Amino acid sequence: MTQLKNDLILRVLKGEKTERVPVWMMRQAGRYLPEYRVLREKYGFFERCQTPELATEITIQPIDRIGVDAAILFSDILVVPQAMGLEVQLIESKGPFLPAPIQSAADLQRITVPDVHDRLHYVFDAIKLIKKELHGRVPLIGFAGSPWTLLCYMVQGKGSKTFDEAKAFCYQQPETAHRLLQMITDTSIAYLQGQIAAGADLLQVFDSWGGLLSESDFETFSLRYMRQIVAALGDKVPVILFAKGAWFALDKMKATGAAGLGIDWCVSAQKARSFAGDDIVLQGNFDPAKLLAPIPVIQAEVKAMLRAFGGHHHIANLGHGILPNVPVDHARAFVDTVKECSINHD
Ligand code: CP3
Repeated sequence: MTQLKNDLILRVLKGEKTERVPVWMMRQAGRYLPEYRVLREKYGFFERCQTPELATEITIQPIDRIGVDAAILFSDILVVPQAMGLEVQLIESKGPFLPAPIQSAADLQRITVPDVHDRLHYVFDAIKLIKKELHGRVPLIGFAGSPWTLLCYMVQGKGSKTFDEAKAFCYQQPETAHRLLQMITDTSIAYLQGQIAAGADLLQVFDSWGGLLSESDFETFSLRYMRQIVAALGDKVPVILFAKGAWFALDKMKATGAAGLGIDWCVSAQKARSFAGDDIVLQGNFDPAKLLAPIPVIQAEVKAMLRAFGGHHHIANLGHGILPNVPVDHARAFVDTVKECSINHD
C-alpha cells in the first residue's frame, strides 16, 4: 500500500486538529473542465464510467488542475439501478432517463440484488487503477446514492424538482416501497464494501433528495436505510452522509455513527453546528452558484465561510455539485483561498 502524502481529510474525519482545512468539490470531475469535455466528445457517459482507464483519467483531472485534497471516483449513483437490472440512459442536456421505471410490486420481479462483483466489477477495477495512478497524492473517495435518492429515479424514471410520482408510490404502496428500498440497501452495502476492498479511503453517501421529505418521512424512507448502510460498513473507513436540504435531521444522522455530515448553503454553519453538536465533522457549504461571482467576491465569501465554521471539524466543499458553467479559474480560486486562509496557528 502506498503511503498517503496528503491525508488531511482523513485526519479531520478522525477528529484530529489539522494544520489547515481540507477542500474538495462535489462533482469536481465534470463538465466545467475542458479536458473532461474532450473525453465527453469521444465516449458515451456510461462508457466513460465502465472503462477503468477513462474513469481514472477523469478522476485525476481535478487533482492536477485545481489541487483539491481528495479525489472522488468518476462514476454515477445510477450505476446501481443499472446493475439491479433497470435500463438507465443519460440524455444530453436532459439528464437521466429510465424507460421502464418501477411502478408496482410486480415490477420488482424485473430487478434483483445482484452480485456486485459480477455487475459492478468495472468500478472496483477503476478504484484499483486510480489508487495506483494517484501514487498516494491524495485519498480516494468512493460513493453511492442513498436508497431514497435511488428510489426517486427508479420510480419517477427521470429527474424532477418534486419527485411527486416517487413520493406517491411511497404513500400509495408503502410495503412495495420498503421492499424496493431494502433491495437497494442490500445492493449498496455490498457495493460500498467492494469499494473499500478495492482501495477507497473514505465513502460518501449522496442523499440528494432527502430534503424533499418531511422530518418523519425522512426517518421512514431515507434515514432508516442509511443507518443500515453505515452500521454494515463498520469503522473500516470514514463515511460522510450528505442529505441535501435535510438539516433538520443532522442530530439523527450523527447518531448513525457517520464520521462527517454534508450540509448545503441554506443552513448556516452556526445553526448546523448547533443541530449536529460539537464532536462531528461538517462538510460544506458554499453556494455553487457563487462560483460564478467575480474572483475577489469568491475569495471574500470563502473566507467568511471558513470563519463561520471556525477552522476545526470542517471539510470545505460546495453545498451541492459544481455547475458546468463555472470558469476553471473560479474553481481554482475557491480551492486556493481555502488553502491559504485556513491555516491554524495554534
Ligand atoms: O463528483 C464527482 O466528480 C464524481 C462523479 C459523480 C457524477 N455523478 C458524475 C456525473 C458523482 C459523485 C455523481 C453523483 C450523482 N449523480 C448524484 C448525487 C449528487 C448530486 O449532484 O445530487 C446524482 C443525483 C446523480 C444523477 C445524475 N447524473 C444526474 C441528475 C445527472 C445529470 C445532471 C448533470 O449534472 O449533468 C448525471 C450525469 C452526470 N454524472 C454527469 C457527471 C460528470 C454529467 C455527464 C455529462 O454530461 O458529461
